[in-house]
Amino acid sequence: MTVTSNEERAIIRTLLDNCSAGMTDMVPDVGYAPVTNYTDPERLTQEISVLFRRFPIVVGHVEQLAEPGCFITHNTTGVPILVTRNRKGELKAFMNVCRHRGMRVANEPCGKAAMFTCPYHSWNYDLDGRLRGMPQPDGFESIDRESLGLVSLPAGERFGLIWVRPSAGDEVFDLDAWLAPMAEQLGSLRLEDYTIFRSWSVESDMSWRLALEGFLESYHFCSAHKHTACAAYLDNQSVFLDLYPHVRHAVPLPKALELGEQAPESWDYRPNFMTQNYLFPCNFAQVMTDHVYIHSIFPNGPGSSVFQCMMLVPEGPMTEKAERYWNSNYSVVETVFGEDFEIGQKIQAGLDAGANEHFVFGRYERGLHLAQKAIDDALEGRLTAAAVS
Ligand code: FES
Ligand SMILES: [Fe+2]
Repeated sequence: MTVTSNEERAIIRTLLDNCSAGMTDMVPDVGYAPVTNYTDPERLTQEISVLFRRFPIVVGHVEQLAEPGCFITHNTTGVPILVTRNRKGELKAFMNVCRHRGMRVANEPCGKAAMFTCPYHSWNYDLDGRLRGMPQPDGFESIDRESLGLVSLPAGERFGLIWVRPSAGDEVFDLDAWLAPMAEQLGSLRLEDYTIFRSWSVESDMSWRLALEGFLESYHFCSAHKHTACAAYLDNQSVFLDLYPHVRHAVPLPKALELGEQAPESWDYRPNFMTQNYLFPCNFAQVMTDHVYIHSIFPNGPGSSVFQCMMLVPEGPMTEKAERYWNSNYSVVETVFGEDFEIGQKIQAGLDAGANEHFVFGRYERGLHLAQKAIDDALEGRLTAAAVS
């Protein structure tokens, strides 16, 4: 049995109260989202420069950087990123951009290295990003090598995940403060003990915002996922916690109703809920009853996006049966996500038709309201990573 927190008890209580009253978790009124949120190239430019530069993005799992010399690269924010574990065991992140003439110095998704040699003219950098040398250095005698190290990015490891802010600069970057509203839950998962079973990415012809919104309500489950997720969860009974700027979206399994017949002291949250945690601005920790998906969504131009996902399991499969079990979970989720993406692409294809100036967010599509507010706050300067600390 897992430990059930006070926050989780409150979710269970809300669910049981809602169900016995024939209600669902709702905001006071419907909301409206301008369709230009999904189409306007200028808005996208602003979203990239604010949301995808000034806030922490999940770029990997600590397992990938287990030892000194391990590195990962990440290319979907628009800033090429290199993360290393240096000789002292510290995590370091850099722009993966050579200071000579801009080539990516590391070109594998992950690996182990003592030195990074740029493929263009072989300038080389160590795990701390310092420029160590170059062929035929007499052509560069007057340069200041110290100042030509790889450009550092703020980074940290928390809750088993690697977080990077994809811009340099001195603005406050306090990951603990930023993640504080989610700390109790993410800490209890002990994701640092998990292992990556699969990681994959999907490119789609839809705005990153459409992809994001697919995880912020469960009203669509019994239409869009009629033959998959519908039967697995209570229909449109999500409970949302406003953990601003993040959102905890708790989706109950049908058996969660049996908790009403148990003493609250014996309630066990995890086997009874799937939780889609929105970690502002573009990350999700989707917690299943016995494994976890970490996904992030990135714009790839107007009307186009990339979804990146890691499937984390408590331990690597030791038997064929375990391998089959995790593979079958992966196939289900790939099918369900595929259903979302197909719908998202069809929505995007119709946006320019002009049928809608606004989309309508229902009262129980509460995650949409909460995420949109946080995004608008950031774009309009009311939310900064520093402001949360
Ligand atoms: S661009 Fe890297 S060595 Fe020239
Ligand atoms: Fe969905």
